[in-house]
Amino acid sequence: MSHPKEVGGYKLGSLIIEGKTKQVFDLPEHPKHCLLLNKDRITAGDGVKAHDLEGKAAISNQTNAKVFEILKSAGIHTAFEKLVSPTAFLSKKCDMVPIEWVTRRLATGSFLKRNPGVPEGFRFTPPKQETFFKDDANHDPQWSEEQIVSAKFKFNGLVIGQDEVDYMRKATILVFEILEKAWALRDCALIDMKIEFGVDLDGNIVLADVIDSDSWRLWPSGDKRLMVDKQVYRNLTTVTAADLDTVKRNFTWIKDQLDHLRPTIHHKVVVFMGSPADQEHCVKIAKAARDLGLDVDLRVTSAHKATEETLRIMQQYEDTHGALVFIAVAGRSNGLGPVLSGNTSYPVINCPPPSDKLVQDIWSSLSVPSGLGCATVLYPDSAALMAAQIIGLQDYLIWGRLRAKQLDMAAGLRKADSKLRSLQF
Ligand SMILES: Nc1ncnc2c1ncn2[C@@H]1O[C@H](COP(=O)(O)OP(=O)(O)OP(=O)(O)O)[C@@H](O)[C@H]1O
Ligand SMILES: [Mg+2]
Repeated sequence: MSHPKEVGGYKLGSLIIEGKTKQVFDLPEHPKHCLLLNKDRITAGDGVKAHDLEGKAAISNQTNAKVFEILKSAGIHTAFEKLVSPTAFLSKKCDMVPIEWVTRRLATGSFLKRNPGVPEGFRFTPPKQETFFKDDANHDPQWSEEQIVSAKFKFNGLVIGQDEVDYMRKATILVFEILEKAWALRDCALIDMKIEFGVDLDGNIVLADVIDSDSWRLWPSGDKRLMVDKQVYRNLTTVTAADLDTVKRNFTWIKDQLDHLRPTIHHKVVVFMGSPADQEHCVKIAKAARDLGLDVDLRVTSAHKATEETLRIMQQYEDTHGALVFIAVAGRSNGLGPVLSGNTSYPVINCPPPSDKLVQDIWSSLSVPSGLGCATVLYPDSAALMAAQIIGLQDYLIWGRLRAKQLDMAAGLRKADSKLRSLQF
């Protein structure tokens, strides 16, 4: 079969692999990347049921791009780079981990067959995570964690041991929870989904392959009868042209809904400093907050010397932002945080700048008059994290960033630990 020579301005090299729904091409001019070209093909039951479906490649391509953009904004490391044509996207070239990582919120489908006695709709908290070895000929058998570790897979120099399995398991659940929160904004229940990981040429584990309507069960209003995912196709005993039209209409609906899954509340974190001398400390707060995806303003104003001006600035922010956190940075006697806190219903975090007299000065932030509820932290990172936790209550992308950061920190510690263990002193 002949292949295209170029797609979306990218010169194609050899076909690395062709599956049921996609072709993967080498890119001679971009050796660390590859191009994934979707096919107008829908399959189920390990390929036993298969149909051509015109327009499916483009719908899947856009669905996948929108999902991966959401996940990237939430801090997940992905192979996906960008769309390059209506049916193709650019991805990091990976050695794929041949495991399907499945997460379930409600029991349905194959889980019920493998776990007789569990009623359909049984709710897993935390979500249930299962792993299946990708092997169409043997119908993707379920594998335990021990089986994955014992396989001693090595991809692009990385041995898949217990640490790597732990990381992928946690990342799998996080991906599910981010998308579950996203779909909740459209009153859709994410019931279960499957993802795949790859190891890129730098030896990093990244979320790879695709996430599209083949990847999940999605029930509008949590009602199974309203399902809009590939299960509709799986359930068909005979497949008519009208049936395929319904499947395509559902897939298009999902693709379009994805445009409405961004958090809608306009948030802001305002760092008030009592004096420009505190700028260095405030910039550290702002940087840490922006790394967590927060929108930050820095303002200089003194509650002691310019009280009315301070309250006026505060009220301007109250009028224009739905989710708002104030961070007050004031040395010596902190009037700023308590004055803000006594005049607003939004959260105020005191984060006094470093000083030789901090031990005495801190009491002006801690021992506040009755009726005030401001918090006090000492380090710029802590102020940023706390602000993110507050905004994250209403913004799942910020919530995701916090969880992704925790996952990265744990992985970083494990890496440092294993490096130290391998050193000979
Ligand atoms: N970034 C990537 N780099 C290299 N290979 C990839 C990448 N993303 C996906 N692949 C691989 O591309 C192949 C083709 O995808 P496709 O989904 O068509 O395959 P399949 O295995 O037949 O289908 P399924 O996985 O749904 O059973 C898969 O083996 C997949 O693991
Ligand atoms: Mg596949």
